[in-house]
Amino acid sequence: MRIAVCPGSFDPITNGHVDVVRRALTMFDEVVVAVATNAAKAPLLSAALRVELAAAAVRGLTGARVALVPGLLADFLRQVGASAVVKGIRGASDVDAEVPMALMNRHLSGVDTVFVVGDQSLAHIASSMVKDVARHGGRIDDLVPPAVSQAVREALARQAR
Ligand code: PNS
Repeated sequence: MRIAVCPGSFDPITNGHVDVVRRALTMFDEVVVAVATNAAKAPLLSAALRVELAAAAVRGLTGARVALVPGLLADFLRQVGASAVVKGIRGASDVDAEVPMALMNRHLSGVDTVFVVGDQSLAHIASSMVKDVARHGGRIDDLVPPAVSQAVREALARQAR
């Protein structure tokens, strides 16, 4: 049983993330979407909502499941017996950001990271940009799985109150 972990903040999960999970499922028996905390980011959505939206987004993908990782990713990798971390790469700046994390995760857990290049039609999608577009009244329905756009709009409205 080869298990891959796809970690991220998923604030929110996007169509780009789902594409990477789909690709990971062609290489691994099980893919765990790990909703974790990025200390450098202040999330818009609560961890519970990020998990709920990610679970809905991968519901139709056999072999995929979602878990909340409250602490160190390396500890979670050991807990689930992960064979690899899988991360999506859209361009060079993603590589620059991801390689130090891959090295640290391997240092701490011995687990290697596999980088997957997603569909080029989704390469412009980033959670931060999705939130920015929505914040300014733009349409995000075709960038994120169903249910995400409404959740983002509601969270932004709560934030503005
Ligand atoms: O989607 P992101 O924000 O690029 O994902 C980064 C994330 C959440 C995967 C990373 O910050 C993380 O692994 N956080 C959990 C805590 C941890 O293990 N930190 C050390 C990472 S090398």
